Amino acid sequence: MRFKISGIIAAAFVAGVCCAGALMFGANAATSAEDDAMIAKSLATMLRSGRTVISRNQDKINDPKLADKGLDGKTVLAEAVKIYKETAGMDPVALDANTRHGKLIRMEMEAIVEVMEGHQQTINRAGVGFKGFIPAVFGRQVSEAFGRRATGLAEMKVTAPAKLVRNPKARADEWEGAVIKDKLMLASWSKDEVFSEVAKSKGKDAYRTAMPEYYAASCLSCHGSPAGEIDITGYPKEGASVGDLGAVISITLYK
Ligand code: HEC
Repeated sequence: MRFKISGIIAAAFVAGVCCAGALMFGANAATSAEDDAMIAKSLATMLRSGRTVISRNQDKINDPKLADKGLDGKTVLAEAVKIYKETAGMDPVALDANTRHGKLIRMEMEAIVEVMEGHQQTINRAGVGFKGFIPAVFGRQVSEAFGRRATGLAEMKVTAPAKLVRNPKARADEWEGAVIKDKLMLASWSKDEVFSEVAKSKGKDAYRTAMPEYYAASCLSCHGSPAGEIDITGYPKEGASVGDLGAVISITLYK
């Protein structure tokens, strides 16, 4: 009798622990995927906000008569944060620096400052019109500077379908290439639909996200027609059209 009861209690106890453990694990896994998706979106929003600041100031940057453009790291970051807030409805500066999200968004904000500080001489040079400092260059360099800070934690890259890639540093890796070809380029793929999954990156498990972006009319002075004609940056135009898949923001969050 005694044995039986304690047996039942023991069984219940084991079952309880087991179920609680399974539930806890399940809950953690779910929050973590949600968390990853939210962080990836947030990092992309900050990158886009920064690019928008450069794009809005492109005429000023290209002005040969103006020396100081007033676009130092602090100013550009403040503008980017403002745009981020308008887009996301949340203040990235208020994020707890001890959380993964807070840590990563700060690394990205520091990367924006670093890139702007590194280009002051170039963009403040009087007598030169086009200086090659455009949103794509800013975006690539911010991604690189972010990657150096977030080594082992996260990576960010702006890539594109293979036939469109200008800078070899922007080439898709195996996963990105397959996602572009087998998902984002499909006629049936919904516009702006993001693809994410847990996959390997550099041999490690990561939550990987690919966010499609499409050419707008403003992109075509460089990426449009006639294909092969040299654009203002010295690259041959790709012959692209408005609405074509032109860019993919790839965010890797290591497990
Ligand atoms: C002034 C010319 C110009 C305009 C306008 C322009 N780009 Fe580019 N784009 C470039 C150059 C130059 C590069 C290579 C930059 C580098 O060195 O990383 C580039 C790179 C890119 C890349 C990174 C992959 C690669 O090819 O290296 C993407 C994606 C891209 N552009 C998309 C766009 C989109 C989308 C727009 C419009 C919103 C746009 N570009 C507008 C000139 C331009």
